[in-house]
Amino acid sequence: MKSRLTCNETLALTAEKTGTPAYIYDLSVLRGQLAGFRNAFEVPRFSLLFATMANPSTQILKLLAIEQAGACVNSNLHLDLALDAGIPTDKVQFTASGLSVDQMRRLISVGISVNLDSRRQVSQWLALGGGPFGVRLNAGALTEKPGDRLGFDQAEFDALRNEVSADLLAGLHVYVGTNFLDPRDMFPTLRCFFRLAAGLPQLRYVNIGGGVGVDYNNIGLGFDINAFGSEVSQLHRQLPPDTMLFFEPGRALAASSGVFLSRVTDIKRLQGTTFVACDASIAVFPRPLYHPESLHRVRSLRDAGDQTDVVVVGRTTFSRDILARCKLPRGVEVGDLLAFENAGAYCNSMASHFLGQPTPADFYFPIE
Ligand SMILES: Cc1ncc(COP(=O)(O)O)c(C=O)c1O
Repeated sequence: MKSRLTCNETLALTAEKTGTPAYIYDLSVLRGQLAGFRNAFEVPRFSLLFATMANPSTQILKLLAIEQAGACVNSNLHLDLALDAGIPTDKVQFTASGLSVDQMRRLISVGISVNLDSRRQVSQWLALGGGPFGVRLNAGALTEKPGDRLGFDQAEFDALRNEVSADLLAGLHVYVGTNFLDPRDMFPTLRCFFRLAAGLPQLRYVNIGGGVGVDYNNIGLGFDINAFGSEVSQLHRQLPPDTMLFFEPGRALAASSGVFLSRVTDIKRLQGTTFVACDASIAVFPRPLYHPESLHRVRSLRDAGDQTDVVVVGRTTFSRDILARCKLPRGVEVGDLLAFENAGAYCNSMASHFLGQPTPADFYFPIE
């Protein structure tokens, strides 16, 4: 079925009801993504968790609960949202860094599985009476390349293994990186990860994180989830078959299920550039500020002639309030509606109070 998010008339009618700016979701798209991701793996014990940092909205979490998917959470708030939405505790993994004692106590009392980030965190966890735990491995360290700030390197991991009894180390986690458009770029890290896991027969689970990308600019590099699932399933065959595989994508599950709608408020020329301002801001549509390398595609909901290069900006005084560099119809006018595509992940979940913009609401089809 074609998504309602691709139909300009539907979106324009929707904006009349919701006002702008607004986030509009078609959850049938998310359901389709879930099915496609699940079908890509052939592993006896497989569990798909949605990374709630991408979008912790209650409607999404309830859909996940109905579809028997789980949640990857990194905060108490998201844990509560996931449990309140009906996701069972055994389908939640808490993966974060620098957990406080209070957070650990809560996880222990609720019985949530954790992936810990340092030896000190492990000692703290055990001192509080926490049971078997997982640890996060640093992706860069696995391939001896520069990595991010998270997880264990080989030396710390070896030291940990000397410190704790093997049966306490229940799981291994890795997050290869973000927004990969080609699964082959993820395989070197995953091969190292599974090789290491294969030497630890006591493991109850491995968790390969997320990282599946979204082709924001529509340049034809759709991530081949089947190739990814097939390689991971193959790698998993090195482990005892009852080792659970957790996969926790965020972006690629939810991005395509949402658009962000905003209305043009001004158009001006400055030093040869056309700036189109709209009733939004990076404060309420923040991905472009964090990721200027993968800006969203924007379309005008009104056909107004041939396209020209523009810079779409927010309605604030912040000089970096740049929402898109794209093509819009030459005849674009104040009052026209703009749809920012792939806005279902890392968009409203990143909104802030910065710049005093009202937080846009989320709306889900059918919208009355
Ligand atoms: C531990 C963990 N798992 C999964 C994800 C989801 O990643 P993505 O949205 O790239 O799929 C993240 C994102 O930060 C993460 O930190």
